[in-house]
Amino acid sequence: MAEVYPVPARVRDGSPNPIVDVDRWREAYHRAEVDPDGFWLDWTRVNLHWHTVPTIACEGDFRTVKDEPIRWFADGEIDVTYNCVDRHAQATPDKVAILWEGDRPGETRRITYDELYEQVCRTANALEALGIKHGERVIIYMGMVPEAAIAMLACARLGAVHSVVFGGFSAESLRDRILDCHAELVITQDEALRGGKAIPLKKITDDAVAQAPCVKKVLVFRRTGTAIDFKAGRDHWWHEEIAKGAITRPAFPVAAEDPLFLLYTSGSTGKPKGIVHTRGGYLTYVAYTHRTVFDLRDDDVFACVADVGWITGHSYIVYGPLCNGTTTLMFESIPTHPDAGRYWDVVQRHKITVFYTAPTALRTLAAAGDEHVTPFDRSTLRVLGTVGEPINPEPWRWYYDVVGAGRCALVDTYWQTETGGIMISAIAPATPTKPGSATYPMPGIAPVLVDHEGRALRGPGDGHLCFSAPWPGIARTVWGEHDRYVGTFFSAYPGYYFTGDGCRRDRDGYYWITGRVDDVMNVSGHRMGTAEFESALVSVEEVAESGVVGFPHPIKGQGVYAYVVLQPGAVIGADFEQVLQAALRQHIGAHARLDLVQIVSGLPKTRSGKIMRRILRKVAEGEVGSLGDTSTLADPHVVDAIVAGRKTL
Ligand code: PRX
Repeated sequence: MAEVYPVPARVRDGSPNPIVDVDRWREAYHRAEVDPDGFWLDWTRVNLHWHTVPTIACEGDFRTVKDEPIRWFADGEIDVTYNCVDRHAQATPDKVAILWEGDRPGETRRITYDELYEQVCRTANALEALGIKHGERVIIYMGMVPEAAIAMLACARLGAVHSVVFGGFSAESLRDRILDCHAELVITQDEALRGGKAIPLKKITDDAVAQAPCVKKVLVFRRTGTAIDFKAGRDHWWHEEIAKGAITRPAFPVAAEDPLFLLYTSGSTGKPKGIVHTRGGYLTYVAYTHRTVFDLRDDDVFACVADVGWITGHSYIVYGPLCNGTTTLMFESIPTHPDAGRYWDVVQRHKITVFYTAPTALRTLAAAGDEHVTPFDRSTLRVLGTVGEPINPEPWRWYYDVVGAGRCALVDTYWQTETGGIMISAIAPATPTKPGSATYPMPGIAPVLVDHEGRALRGPGDGHLCFSAPWPGIARTVWGEHDRYVGTFFSAYPGYYFTGDGCRRDRDGYYWITGRVDDVMNVSGHRMGTAEFESALVSVEEVAESGVVGFPHPIKGQGVYAYVVLQPGAVIGADFEQVLQAALRQHIGAHARLDLVQIVSGLPKTRSGKIMRRILRKVAEGEVGSLGDTSTLADPHVVDAIVAGRKTL
């Protein structure tokens, strides 16, 4: 039996939120189950400002999604930025909206809601002057500066559709994303700073844009002031453009189902998918989950230390917190710069009350030792959160006991790019927790575990995690590829949304995510497809074929194991592994790296030529005694050679 941690008294006492214990959770869950439309309409009408208040909640379901995308609040009209900025600029103009901690410790900026309003309006006016209109796509390729959030909001205010590309992606990855959504404008910065290193974002943008003729303009924010190439007519300075126009701009309500942003994410194939989120439903869902899970209070200083390039940054640095009028931190650096005490130094200096990070960071910091934590005052902390990958009990306990000193609630939040916001998580003041379990679904969310035949399991059991009913934050489609959206999420188990994750439900109804069951890897919380790796590796001249799988890694959660078959007669040098790493850096980005490489004479394949990844995975995991039936392989002997040459960390 896993141990159960009750909610600490200081989290439960004085909570302003309606769900303060398991009974209140059950009531809310029941209400949302029997009357989902009423539940969501009530929530959004009370907590969001609608220029035209919706009367319809959800339209469509998982059986009809092929022909009709899911819609929420479709007769409503909303301005996302009015909700995230204007109404707080009116009510609490001097409250800090964005609190920025730069790469260098102590380098900070405070942007109040009033200032944010002016910045967003100025930037929207500048984007309009550069030719951006309602519905057009804008790529944002920036580091963790407030201007990245301002650029997102400025796009939203124009009704344009932003697509943020994580600053670690290479020129090729950036180019592919630009081309896929046909963006005419890229917003970037001279350089990004991360852990003392400068990343030449403008240079990378230049390389990408050289192969993306759709791009007409590049807007450049000056972060470091380094000299950069500037192409007359195409490139424009951020500070010059925003100085030209008005400091206000009227709200621009648009249909609830208008796209708000695209975010490219990895799947089972080599080509990333442009996940589409729309306005009214997404904003409702992120505001709801942010307020409920973290037990939001008016004076909270909320720190989500993810990158805005990923969904966590979109939902819980920008849209959720700002919609709720919170002070939200943007953190430019990394947890180990200049040393492993950086997070807790930030907590102390900014009096952080809610801290949200990834298990991979916690594993690194726990390994560095408690002496990096205990010197700092963490008494302001009330809620600790994790996201992005399964958290094993050891770092969970370390986070709870050492960082939180046993006084904070710890919420392990399970969700995905495609879900928009948190799906399964403890609610800070309400849910007793078990280390390693995401606990219960949010009210309004209907998880189902299915077995291999697609039968829904009842009670405790292990299965594939699905959801049986739409929620407001669900992605509506894949940009330009609705069939791919339907195929990826709704074809495995008809009538259900399939997450791609395995999951166990225990006797108390707690959910334990066991990890991906498809060809998606989760390395240090970065989601990457094995197919993307394989296609990058075969671009190397000496490589004939490769098979890439994830394996358990003590710090990264999953590491990447590559089996590489060389071209006949290929001669490789001692630096061959660096050559492979360079190919990954070029085709994907700096965050794509191999942990183990094994040169093999062949890959295990069925007689029809399909790679049997199950076997590659088992060998990488070290489970060579349980390879299962290999008799259907075209050449069973390759397995012996693979096992004999197995690599370990
Ligand atoms: O495998 C699950 C894992 O991360 C995947 C989603 O990745 P991405 O779309 O990049 O979004 C990450 C941030 C929401 C999921 O399919 N995952 C996410 N959170 C958890 C998790 N696995 C276990 N526990 C979690 N709390």
